[in-house]
Amino acid sequence: MKILVLNGPNINMLGVREPEIYGGSSYKDLIQMVTDHAVTRGVLVEFYQSNHEGDLVDAIQRAYFDNVDGIVFNPAAYTHTSIAILDAVKATSIPVIEVHISNVAEREEFRQISYIRQVAKATICGKGFRGYTEAIDILIEGITSKQWK
Ligand code: DQA
Repeated sequence: MKILVLNGPNINMLGVREPEIYGGSSYKDLIQMVTDHAVTRGVLVEFYQSNHEGDLVDAIQRAYFDNVDGIVFNPAAYTHTSIAILDAVKATSIPVIEVHISNVAEREEFRQISYIRQVAKATICGKGFRGYTEAIDILIEGITSKQWK
């Protein structure tokens, strides 16, 4: 099983950006933690991060042609604005788990909209990096049980 861990703008700044919200660990630490988890679960993980909306659309389309089985996706600020990203997920029908490090539900009004949520198989918020490993487990369960096919 091949899983893409896709991150949107400013996630590369983890550890530097607003540590009181996102914690003190870096994007590299996130990759390490998720890779270790994927190894224990016997799945292949690929990582991609971009600060650009179109790059994220390209990555989702590429995932389709590369036969990626599922996407753990933190679209970051594009969560709240991007119809193009929503349409890319709809176009490919790859199962997506939406992840947010912070608890967006308790933050500003403009973060209460999520375009991706309507197509995500599940949404995890406010669990820090652990949200990503939980998302991998949800994908493995959903894909192996064929509940999404
Ligand atoms: C975020 C929440 C978004 O509102 C924000 O724009 C981000 C990160 C999170 O992981 O908590 O960049 O997706």
